[in-house]
Amino acid sequence: MKNEITVYPPATVANVVCGFDVLGFALESPCDKMLVRLVPRRGVTIINKDDFDLPPEPEKNVAGAALLAMLKELPDDIGFEVESTKSIKPGSGIGSSAASASGAVVGANHLLGNRFSNTDLVRFAMSGEEVASGVKHADNLAPCIYGGVTLIRSMDPLDIIKLDAPPLYVTITHPQIEVKTSDARQILKKQILLTDAIKQWGNIAGLVAGLMKGDYALISRSLVDVLIEPVRSILIPGFDEIKRRSKEAGALGGGISGSGPAMFMLCKEEGTARQVAEVGKEVYAKIGLPCLTYQSRINPEGVRVSREPVLS
Ligand code: HSE
Repeated sequence: MKNEITVYPPATVANVVCGFDVLGFALESPCDKMLVRLVPRRGVTIINKDDFDLPPEPEKNVAGAALLAMLKELPDDIGFEVESTKSIKPGSGIGSSAASASGAVVGANHLLGNRFSNTDLVRFAMSGEEVASGVKHADNLAPCIYGGVTLIRSMDPLDIIKLDAPPLYVTITHPQIEVKTSDARQILKKQILLTDAIKQWGNIAGLVAGLMKGDYALISRSLVDVLIEPVRSILIPGFDEIKRRSKEAGALGGGISGSGPAMFMLCKEEGTARQVAEVGKEVYAKIGLPCLTYQSRINPEGVRVSREPVLS
């Protein structure tokens, strides 16, 4: 019987400009690497094999908390060990904590013969997100686990819809500063105007319709956020210039990835995505801030499970 498996949970983009806490999509890269092992005793052991100095105590660790939530629904003689090698930097805005939580539960579920549904896995992984940011948001977890573009219609009960999308190229520009999701949530307005809400839900509906119809022009004009971006973008040096110049270079649109500081831009053509990456590099070179850029397509699969599990 299989007792260990390697999984590769990918980075994700949450919010997708107008869909705060409800929309997200998975990237092909970067990905973390996690080895998940099934053990015949209750408990979770975390071994961090990278330099991010994440806590090894399972209840304080994102992957550990997700697995502890899963263990509550499993027999007493089952436990897990996880060896985690992260490439997705914590505090980047491209779903680092979601990758850890998703990889852990997808790997564990695979070893258990896939006894849990994807919705169950998101539910367990939300305990991991709670450890990371104090909030059980699922907009990075859903695309990481389901793959592609996802909509969370409801958090309670969880109702997750995987959306069709036309071919899209994504450019991520990640200035090397850290923004904690908890801080980026703290600064948001707790109440909004009805007039702003009307604009926002028009754009969310427009974006979903544009993705489902493969209508690039509709996608482009729906990538507008009147609620969150005006508040959070002040935390990201160069944001306005990168957004303006990326659109001038032909990007359909984009904005803050999750809670930032990474930004994402959607493009119809691969060449445009490359030009957008150059825009980001130029702006941050001018500011004197190191940055990383990634180009990726939307990843329809989510967490990749190694094709060659170790047998015992
Ligand atoms: N929807 C969450 C937020 C995503 O924007 O706070 C965090 O990655």
